[in-house]
Amino acid sequence: MPIKSISAATRRRFLKGAAAAAGAAVFIPAPFAIGQAAKVKLGVLLPYSGTYAALGHNITDAMILAINEAGGTLGGRPVEYVKVDSEADPSKAAANTNKLVVGEKVDFLTGPVHSGVAMAMAKIVREEGTITVVSNAGADAVTREMCAANIFRTSFSNWQTCFPMGPEMLKRGHKRVVSITWNYAAGQEMIGAFRESFAANGGTIVKEMLVPFPNVEFQALLTEIASLKPDAVFSFFAGGGAVKFVKDYAAAGLKTSIPLFGSGFLTDGTLPAQGAAAEGIVTTLHYADSLDNPVNKKFREAFKKATNRDADVYAVQGYDTGKLLMHGMTAVKGDTGAKKEIMAAMRGATLDSPRGKFTFSKAQNPVQDIYLREVKNGDNVVIGVAHKALADPARGCTLA
Ligand code: PHB
Repeated sequence: MPIKSISAATRRRFLKGAAAAAGAAVFIPAPFAIGQAAKVKLGVLLPYSGTYAALGHNITDAMILAINEAGGTLGGRPVEYVKVDSEADPSKAAANTNKLVVGEKVDFLTGPVHSGVAMAMAKIVREEGTITVVSNAGADAVTREMCAANIFRTSFSNWQTCFPMGPEMLKRGHKRVVSITWNYAAGQEMIGAFRESFAANGGTIVKEMLVPFPNVEFQALLTEIASLKPDAVFSFFAGGGAVKFVKDYAAAGLKTSIPLFGSGFLTDGTLPAQGAAAEGIVTTLHYADSLDNPVNKKFREAFKKATNRDADVYAVQGYDTGKLLMHGMTAVKGDTGAKKEIMAAMRGATLDSPRGKFTFSKAQNPVQDIYLREVKNGDNVVIGVAHKALADPARGCTLA
């Protein structure tokens, strides 16, 4: 009988029975024994096409790497990955989430990249109760008013990545700034977080420019920036859009006269394609390639070996998603029916991440260091810690 045609309760009994029938198989990570344990279904909703495609691939591959490094199982059970291309399209997000949660009846759900997709996904899993790990999207609401016991995030809130930049830019003497970003939740919330700390300390955003997502037609706005002559520009773009924006900014001749700042997504995973145009850009982010810790070094080598690509912040978030799921499933020895215990274990986890050790807030969002980075010789060099152990304010989250 196909698993998806039976009720959740029946299915739990079936899986427990299968695990029991496999006996020691659940506990002994030998290939022969594992073959007998029922598979854990892991739903993955990420973009594999469009401007965020590279992000989706790095998150997926690093998550699988983390699980494979531990024998390819979650709590002793092999994993079936059920992947859906989100296309970073919020209008398809509810249908795509339902495909996995209701149609495939996945045991766990991970993803997405896009904040708009995350909001639709969070609305559904709050009702369905599926244990969900958000592996990129920073939509503040996910760990604020929409927070839930079954929703975790291994990445960041949009607020976290930009709040530390206000005082930093003022310290550098930039008081009049133009902001430019895509016009959707991530861009709006990142600029909002920057504005919060920038304006409170005496800075002024003279113009807030918004570009429809995922458009990359920047020319008219770059001309306007030149005429406004701000002290600096603050921005959020990512993936293919970030490559184009940084190159266009330099080509418009603005790079030397008006310094460019942003959340670190502007220069993460993008530097080889941006080349000299990215030199000198200063950003804030919860990761940098060159972080000098043994976990990061080992991870970067393993990711390169597995994919032939360089790791970036997205890969780190995918890797930590795999680790968090493993942590929860190891605590219950693979019993997906023991949801409360899985969630309790995940909530209490300390992850020894390539970004540095981090824990989860009451809203189940990382409490993490935000690094100050500057692009030097094609590398995001860490030039300081912009904010130590930063927690999102979690306004409106009622989880105690
Ligand atoms: C988001 O939509 O939340 C988002 C997308 C790409 C990023 C960061 C945030 O790099």
